[in-house]
Amino acid sequence: MDLEVEMGGNESSRMTTASDKKRDAKASQYMHWAKTRSHARFNLATSGLANLKLQELQLSLADLEITGDSGYGYQPLIGLLADRFRVDPTCVVTAAGTTFANHLALAALINPGDEILLESPAYEPLLALAQYLGANVKRFQRRFEDDWCVSAAEIERNLSPRTRLIVITNFHNPSGVLTDEQTMMEVGELAAKRNARVLVDEVYLEMLFADTPQTAFHLGEQFVVTSSLTKAFGLSGLRCGWILAEPGLAKSMWLLNDLFAATPVHAGERLSVVALKQLTAIGERAQSRLDKHREMLNQFLDSRDDLETVRPAQGSIMFPRVKAESSEGLCNLLREKYETSVVPGRFFEQPPHFRIGMGGETESFTEGLNRLGRALDELK
Ligand SMILES: Cc1ncc(COP(=O)(O)O)c(C=O)c1O
Repeated sequence: MDLEVEMGGNESSRMTTASDKKRDAKASQYMHWAKTRSHARFNLATSGLANLKLQELQLSLADLEITGDSGYGYQPLIGLLADRFRVDPTCVVTAAGTTFANHLALAALINPGDEILLESPAYEPLLALAQYLGANVKRFQRRFEDDWCVSAAEIERNLSPRTRLIVITNFHNPSGVLTDEQTMMEVGELAAKRNARVLVDEVYLEMLFADTPQTAFHLGEQFVVTSSLTKAFGLSGLRCGWILAEPGLAKSMWLLNDLFAATPVHAGERLSVVALKQLTAIGERAQSRLDKHREMLNQFLDSRDDLETVRPAQGSIMFPRVKAESSEGLCNLLREKYETSVVPGRFFEQPPHFRIGMGGETESFTEGLNRLGRALDELK
């Protein structure tokens, strides 16, 4: 489906930044681009691990069923998630991917007109969602010059007595930068003083590949976190997402879900249980691929004086800057001549940057990097 007309013109006329006030709040420009324009023979645009195949899971038909008792959560799935994050099962809400987890969480946390403080650069669907829900969205900056770090002081400067919610991704999409626990605690204290909450999208934090993953949820009741098996494990197709929130809030999300989705796809819940039990092995394979690809990407970046990049030591994405006002020329050349895709920085309100993902198959990633180098050479 091509939504171009509905979304307002051709590619170049849509070169607005994600914060453009006139943007259509009932759509995500990035998600539409990702579904219709990001595909290429050598895909460096995808931010997660390449999709796992069903045959890579150990599975028998007896593990599956079409219908089950999952009105307010399928208890075996809730139980596994609760154990994984060392939380009470009443704090867990399951949802279709981090996308829907974010939707449920935000819809429960804010009312139209509420002021929220969202990081910039941001994952555009989060911004679009907040705008769609009628939030009065203020921004705080994460700066390239400061290694894209979250600064509690910067957040404090932008808080107002009306701020209801602070929104952060960890690791940060697009830069891949990790926010440490100390900083997150400082942000939590700022929020608590104003009776505000902190929503942390932790979908990339799973890429620390710990058996007992770190989560901001344990830092205080003001924290609500969302995540899924999508990015770290190549399991986007499962749509196994979740929210961790204090029980009262979690309950309000379940009740909201009665309006949105009623009940989940039960076969998906069953498959999620199967996958969660095999997560350590899946994660080990993913981690070794990412470690190898990060080394390759670092070597590539060492060889380029035309790119400046904050280089996180973990995760699957980096966000290089070209020495031009915009990366569009590079992204177009790369796609049209070199059959390779990266994500243009305009989707993250940073036109001179582009996002590169390293979770693909090694052969394709290697050739994609090679072609990126050739496209950059051609532009010199
Ligand atoms: C920060 C962030 N949150 C959520 C998502 C979507 O996650 P899911 O596929 O689990 O819905 C993405 C995907 O790019 C993302 O980058």
